[in-house]
Formats: sequence, C-alpha cells, structure tokens
Amino acid sequence: MSKITAAITAVGAYVPEYVLTNQILETMVDTNDEWITTRTGIKERRILKEEGKGTSFLATKAAQNLIDKTGLNPEEIDLVIVSTATPDMKAASTAAYTASQIGAKNAFSFDLEAACSSFLFGMSVASSYIESGRYKKVLLIGADKNSSFINYEDRATCIIFGDGGGAVLFEPNEEGMGLQDEYLRSDGIGREFLRAKYGGSSYPITKEALENGEHYVFQDGKTVFKNAVFNMADVAVKILERNNLTKDDVAWLVAHQANKRIIDATANRIDLEAEKVMMNIEKFGNTTSATLPLLLNDYETQLKKGDKLIFAAFGGGFTWGSIYLKWAYNS
Ligand code: UT7
Repeated sequence: MSKITAAITAVGAYVPEYVLTNQILETMVDTNDEWITTRTGIKERRILKEEGKGTSFLATKAAQNLIDKTGLNPEEIDLVIVSTATPDMKAASTAAYTASQIGAKNAFSFDLEAACSSFLFGMSVASSYIESGRYKKVLLIGADKNSSFINYEDRATCIIFGDGGGAVLFEPNEEGMGLQDEYLRSDGIGREFLRAKYGGSSYPITKEALENGEHYVFQDGKTVFKNAVFNMADVAVKILERNNLTKDDVAWLVAHQANKRIIDATANRIDLEAEKVMMNIEKFGNTTSATLPLLLNDYETQLKKGDKLIFAAFGGGFTWGSIYLKWAYNS
C-alpha cells in the first residue's frame, strides 16, 4: 500500500471591504507613502470595521468561500483548526464558534497560536492528523483581526498590520503530493521584542495599562527584522538542502508577508528569481496567520499539480520555520 501524504485540495479566502491606504495613514500618524512603500512594500491593508465582529467572522467567511468554490459538505469535515493570534475572546474557542457557523457539525475544533507562524505550524498539525490516518478532512483556517490590537497612533506598527482570513482543506493523498518535509523552530527570548504585554495571564488588564496603551502590540522593529531575515532565509536553505532541491526545482516561494525586504532577502539567499516569489503584501500588509493562505488563494490558478512549494514564516515568540509541499491539483 502506498504511503498516505497530506495534500491541500482546496483554498478559500476573505478580506474585509474597508481599504486603509498609505494616504489615509498619512493623515493619522507622522508617516508618508514613500517611506512605507520603500521600507515595507505595503500600499494598503484591509480593516474589519463592523462592531462586534471578530476573527471568527473572517475565519467563517474564508471557510465559506472554500465551501462555495468546491461544494464541500461541511458535515464531512472532521476537524477545524483556527490558527490565530487574535482570538475572538479569552476562554471561548474561536474555532468552535467558526465550526458551528459553517455547519461543521461532526467536527471537533481548536485554536492554534504561534503568532505569525500560526498557519505554518497549523499545516504541520493538520498534516499529522491526515498522515496518521486518523482523519480524512481537516480544515485549516488562518485568520486575524489585527486592527483590534493596534494603536493607530503608533507609526511603528499601524502601517504594517491588516485584517484577513484564508482557509485550506487537507486530505489524504496516495500519489505522493502534499507535505514532504518541515523544519519548525521557536525561541522564547523573542517575546521582549514583539508582544502585547497587558491583557494576558502575566499582566491582566488594568486601568493604568489601558490608559498607557500597553494592551496594544509593541514591536522593536529592527530586532524583529534582523531575526526574521536571518532565520527565514536559514530554514529555507536547510529545507532545500535536506531534500536535495536546487532553486530550479522550486516552483514558488510562499513566504509570510511581513515586510517585502524580508521576503526578498529570503529569496536572494536561495537565489530564487522574483517571478517565483508569491507576493501580495502591497494589497493586504501583514495579516499574521492569514498571509500564507491569502497567497495561495491569489495564486491558485497559476499553481500546477506537482509544483514544489517552499513555505517560510517568522513571527513573535520568536517562532519560525519552513515547509516543503507538493501542490496536488490543477484548478
Ligand atoms: O510578522 C511578524 C514579524 N514582524 C516583522 O517581521 C516586522 C519586522 N520589522 C520591520 O519590518 C521594520 O523594522 C519596520 C518596517 C517596522 C521599520 O523599518 P526599519 O527600516 O527597521 O525602520 P527603523 O525602525 O529603523 O526606523 C528608521 C527611521 C527612524 O528615523 P531616524 O531615527 O532614522 O531619524 C524612524 O523614526 O524611520 C523612522 N520611522 C518612520 N518614518 C516614517 C519609523 N517608522 C516610520 C514610519 N513613517 N511609519
């Protein structure tokens, strides 16, 4: 019997309608379009404005898009994972709510949090359930409503982040498609450099913390940047070497969209042509857990069965890694 691998068999996505452009940001903080474009590659990002709607709204819409595109019966889904750094609420599972919203009545569900690596790590978890033979349909959703944790008076963060969601379905494959190898890492030293300090269990929210904006995301951009460039490039090289792949074997680099300069540095390190680098940061900014599925959704029609994809991500924690996956279908 041939070995069961875990393949992505469908993709869906959703971004909110409201577009926050660099020009609008110029009216909010001391910044300008030229600085943002040259330093990050971002032109605009989407923001979920409607009151009372959280990450589950983005996750549900993305999953529903996948269901509508494929005709998947939600009752056949075994497991729903919502990768997110911005759950709807403390204590209540965002995935449980999302699964119910899409009618995945026979599924169990849970959230997975690893900052900007949440979706990448989710790929590993979803694949393991499929490879073990335990489940047949695992829906992995990456969604974040970053705008709920951003201080729109802090130009170091508000120019980068946006809201969005993306979903993929993992199913068993007997042709050797899907996830081939992974190299995943974390280092807790990073939490000083990218975090929202108040509002968690170490520092429950206080009146003073709220007044000082210490519940918002803080980032030491330079330190995060340096670590992201080094580590994302490093893991991409490792995964290529380990699988005897040359740059000519690689069809696409699917890299977390945090800063175009970080993505370019990773591509340069593996000597990959710009045409093989998926990029949509200019439209959406950094959507944390949603960047990778949003890329897959944008490039889905260009992907061919057997294409070798190298995923890479880096995020808070620190967390980072790379995955080598063979694309399983022509759309
Ligand atoms: O997804 C999770 C991981 N996150 C990341 O990967 C983000 C990593 N970091 C970055 O992408 C970059 O560090 C930033 C985009 C956040 C900042 O870019 P940078 O090139 O590292 O800028 P910087 O912080 O070193 O600042 C350079 C200059 C400073 O001015 P001086 O001191 O040189 O006069 C800043 O005050 O640019 C100034 N500056 C700005 N100017 C206009 C900082 N932010 C802005 C701004 N608009 N928004």
